[in-house]
Amino acid sequence: MIFWNETNWRSYCACVDDLLHSDEVRSMRTIRHHPGVSCYEHSVFVSYMAFRLARRWGMDCRAAARGGLLHDLYLYDPHTLRSYRQCFAHPVAAARNAAALCGGLSAKEENIILAHMWPIAVRRPRSGEAFAVCLADKICAIAEVLRIWRRLRMCRVVLG
Ligand SMILES: [Fe+2]
Ligand SMILES: [Fe+2]
Repeated sequence: MIFWNETNWRSYCACVDDLLHSDEVRSMRTIRHHPGVSCYEHSVFVSYMAFRLARRWGMDCRAAARGGLLHDLYLYDPHTLRSYRQCFAHPVAAARNAAALCGGLSAKEENIILAHMWPIAVRRPRSGEAFAVCLADKICAIAEVLRIWRRLRMCRVVLG
């Protein structure tokens, strides 16, 4: 599977364009998530990977892309909380902010966001799309920490 190309990126953007241009999502650019990676960069990376996984598995790739983009919309400095507390608190804050941004969330969208820390946190993914975001989150976090994501050209793509 070629991870990134122009056609896939355009299909992805068609699912999330309104969110990508919102002030709330863009404000994640100022929040550091992993060393050298902002919350915005991480969220777009997860969202795009979840979109690709869901499409490949014949699922709702739009729901996966949108849930992936909003899964870490907690919008505060994560270093203000101890890492144990941040692990459980940030999906709840992200779901609240995502609901405010979108004028409410469906049960599936809410679960995609709340369950993305499974199995570290106890809330389980209840749909294939939620599982795609959960899996993409782990893969992307590893790629970011190991700095592999720059080689996938996502750095250039995300930042334009
Ligand atoms: Fe998260
Ligand atoms: Fe994440």
